[in-house]
Formats: sequence, structure tokens, C-alpha cells
Amino acid sequence: MAKSLLTCQTLGGVPIGRSRDHHETSSMKDGHPIFAALYDQKSAFAERRWMGERRRRLLSGARGAVLEIGGGTGANLAHYRNVDRVTIAEPDRFMRNRIGPKLEEARVPVEVSAAGAEALPYPDGSFDTVVSTLVLCTVPDQEAALDEVRRVLRPGGRLLFIEHVRAAGSAARWQDRLEPLWRRLLGGCHPNRDTVAAIEEAGFEIETFESFYPPDPLSALMPHVQGSATVRLAA
Ligand SMILES: C[S@@+](CC[C@H](N)C(=O)[O-])C[C@H]1O[C@@H](n2cnc3c(N)ncnc32)[C@H](O)[C@@H]1O
Repeated sequence: MAKSLLTCQTLGGVPIGRSRDHHETSSMKDGHPIFAALYDQKSAFAERRWMGERRRRLLSGARGAVLEIGGGTGANLAHYRNVDRVTIAEPDRFMRNRIGPKLEEARVPVEVSAAGAEALPYPDGSFDTVVSTLVLCTVPDQEAALDEVRRVLRPGGRLLFIEHVRAAGSAARWQDRLEPLWRRLLGGCHPNRDTVAAIEEAGFEIETFESFYPPDPLSALMPHVQGSATVRLAA
């Protein structure tokens, strides 16, 4: 058994397959069983072609105690190196139940929690790094989630993110038209959120930033951003 799974249990995290759901937000009560079942399969091509390398680069900047919101099926776990521990907060039990095998790939202690990003059950300033990869498009209340991320980061801590965001011009209008169907098919994902503006409005200062179009068929509709942000100091 992997060190990470043992640690998950001894740290009091949610054992895989026996989830403790009292932190779930109401909109996530049932989760998305089909989306979760297909997630790794549907992402495999992108992971090999570009996303795996982007995860590796992003997470090389993670340090100390790490909180990953919306950890999904654990795709980031293999990439953590210089960190003390990782807490995954994933409210969808169908996603959470698929993390098990990825714990074997983790080189650091991992705890899995059913917490939603809008109500994190952790004290102020308890993490050095918060990671969000393809999550701020999906959280039902982005503003509340970012407020919580800011609260649980220690002063000087970092938010590391890879997100797809609102396009410009006619592509944005297509995102708006497609949003209802997209949301239904893709586990609650909103294709058209201006997430970088939301990060700044939540009191963060963008530290590093790159925008890119992934080499995928729908890329014109899916501009992405990768970067890091720190909590803005009061003037
Ligand atoms: C597109 S998946 C991304 C999963 C993973 N972060 C990755 O990079 O592959 C979006 C994830 O956000 C999670 N999510 C949805 N609502 C959430 C919330 N309120 N708080 C935290 N995570 C949430 C979903 O359950 C899902 O696992």
C-alpha cells in the first residue's frame, strides 16, 4: 500500500470509498457519476499532448502545505515534489472515489476531504499554496470560493492556477450560447467565466501569467491561462 494512502488515513482524511459527505455543498449532493466515470478517459489525449507538462510546470512552484480545490480524480498528484503534504478538497464523491489509484503515484502525504471550495473547513492562513486546475470554471459560487482560498492562504502564500476562461469577441458570444448545454454535459463547467478578473477582484495580485490556446479541436472556444497569484497586501 502506498505511503500516501496510509498517511491519508492516519491524518484523518476521508478514506477512499468510504466518503464522509458532511462538507458537501447542496448543489453537489449527487455529484456527476457519468462525468466522473469518463473524466480520465476523455482527458487522456490532452494530458499526453499538453496538460501533463503544464501540470508539471505549474506544480513545481508548489511549496509547504498544499490545498488543492476540486482535485477531481487526482491528476495532479504525480507532479508534487517539494511540498510537505497535499490536502485535496473534492466534493463530488464520484470523482473522489477515483482518486485511489493516483495515491500510489504520489510522493508526498495526501489527505482527501469532501469539502467544497466555498466553505473550507480549515483555519485562516493554514496553507502555503492553493492549487486550482480547471476548477474555477465549475465551482457554483466563484466569488465565495476565491474568498475562501484567500482566507486559508498564509500571508505570502500562492494560488497556482490553470483555468480555461472567457474568450474575446464572437468566440465569447459562442461560449455564452453554448453555456447551458456545456454545463449540463461537462459536470457543471461554465465555459465563459472571466476568471482572471475574478481572481484580481477577490484581492489577489497576479504574479506570473501566461495565456494560451491548447492544441485541441475546440481551442478557439477555450482560451486557457496558467499562472500564480499572491494575496494583495492592504495599502
Ligand atoms: C474539470 S474537473 C477538474 C479536476 C482536476 N482539478 C483536474 O485538474 O483534472 C472540475 C472539478 O471541480 C470540482 N468541483 C465542483 N464544484 C466544486 C466546489 N464547489 N468546490 C470544489 N471543487 C468543486 C468537480 O467535482 C471536479 O472534480
